[in-house]
Amino acid sequence: MKNHVVIFDTTLRDGEQSPGASMNAAEKLRLARQLEKLGVDVMEAGFPASSPGDFESVRTIAREIRNVQVTALARTSKEDIDRAWGAVRDAANPRIHTFIATSDLHLKYKLNMDRDQVVKEAVEAVRYAKSFTDNVEISTEDGTRSDRDYLCKIFGAVIEAGATTVNLPDTVGYAVPEEYSQLITYVRQHTPNIHKAVMSVHCHNDLGLATANTLAGIRAGARQAEVTVNGIGERAGNTSLEEVVMALNTRRDLMKLETSINANQIHPTSRLTSMITGIVVQPNKAIVGANAFAHEAGIHQDGVLKNPMTYEIMEPETVGLAGNNLVLGKHSGRHAFKDKLAQMGYELSNEELNRLFGKFKELADKRKEILEEDIEALVAEEILRVPDVYELKYLNVVSGTVEVPTATVKLKIRGEEAKSAGFGVGPIDAAFKPIDAAFNTIAKITGSSSKLMRFSVNAITGGMDAQGEVTVRLQENGLVALGKGTDPDIITASAKAYVNGLNRLEYMKKNPRLSPNEGLR
Ligand code: KIV
Ligand code: ZN
Repeated sequence: MKNHVVIFDTTLRDGEQSPGASMNAAEKLRLARQLEKLGVDVMEAGFPASSPGDFESVRTIAREIRNVQVTALARTSKEDIDRAWGAVRDAANPRIHTFIATSDLHLKYKLNMDRDQVVKEAVEAVRYAKSFTDNVEISTEDGTRSDRDYLCKIFGAVIEAGATTVNLPDTVGYAVPEEYSQLITYVRQHTPNIHKAVMSVHCHNDLGLATANTLAGIRAGARQAEVTVNGIGERAGNTSLEEVVMALNTRRDLMKLETSINANQIHPTSRLTSMITGIVVQPNKAIVGANAFAHEAGIHQDGVLKNPMTYEIMEPETVGLAGNNLVLGKHSGRHAFKDKLAQMGYELSNEELNRLFGKFKELADKRKEILEEDIEALVAEEILRVPDVYELKYLNVVSGTVEVPTATVKLKIRGEEAKSAGFGVGPIDAAFKPIDAAFNTIAKITGSSSKLMRFSVNAITGGMDAQGEVTVRLQENGLVALGKGTDPDIITASAKAYVNGLNRLEYMKKNPRLSPNEGLR
């Protein structure tokens, strides 16, 4: 059996199904480029039948990304498969990924079909997809709660019809590792033609077992792992790419398996995903959390100083964590800045570079030391996040312990400038009153009726002059959007996050999406 594990990244599809994480086309393309650099084998760019916006995003990615297989999700209907093919057909190496549920529960309550009908539908879908490309994957949704002999029957039939990858998802995160391993082994032993296809695993993290299940599936012979960066995804998320890859790398002695991932791109990809989606990485998250390589206990620190191997099973540099190295300062010139950006993987146009350099100089005036994380935040703020509708041009807040805080705000709305002033009337906490004033004023100008459901502030780097990173969660008529903003001033960071959240809501209103299970018979 081959020792290469195919890394199938679904951050842009299952990951994007995380509440509030929707990305616009430009953001998806940025992330796709980074995933290519990370070295994933396959990227699932979206679900084209879900919305015209998603179709366009997938099509753009398929045209731009040349070194990775690009796939799109489709239900088993011809219309869905046509949309998926229409979106990926220009890819250097396109794949169609179709799926149908196989558990009796889903058959009865969702599909209203019997088992034979599902096999027939799956076979027809694979045959139809094969009329476009040889590279066809099929997933048996809710596979881990399906009858195992029925799984063998359907896998046998779809492989006969030409499926080249068969995926057995733990859609609801129900399996435990031993059980999942036994199921994969059983299917591999009892599906006679299984060797003609790559067996794939796809796990959700409802019980916190997604990575363990994925590794168990791989140990049982699966050779494709479906994962997302930072483990983002529906509900508790999907299997995290970085955990699987680093488990395979770190325990190569035991597993003797390889992936094509450039591990030193793991950290930049994690940061970028968080910047773009607004989903904060928990500090204790394995591999990419802020504390993943921090040693707090004195005894550990002492050990690490003597020999890092005492308490570190991986070196931070291997996952692209540069540490808080001073990278640039106030006196750094345009050339050094451009070089640093190139080293970090950002190739910008002259116009983008000029704009960013101006912002860098402003930041360098406020902060003595500019670290990589600061530069990443600048790039996200100025280049990556595309202001669909609203752009913050100016914010001035006057506040004090006894004053009623007042904010003056200028926004650009669809190219037109609008200005207003307002007061803070909300939270009692004096520290948040100025933010409240800024939010009220922005809400007044934009006419937004969204509700602020969550507000959190983090420091990007250490030190008193660290940049603040604010995340907001907004809700409007059933839509949920996350917004992120960074600035040395947390009131400005908050306003940027709020405007970013409003832009995402506008994007979602313009691009209503079906979830993969909607619109089923
Ligand atoms: O979790 C799941 O079952 C899926 C399929 C569509 C592959 O995401
Ligand atoms: Zn899934």
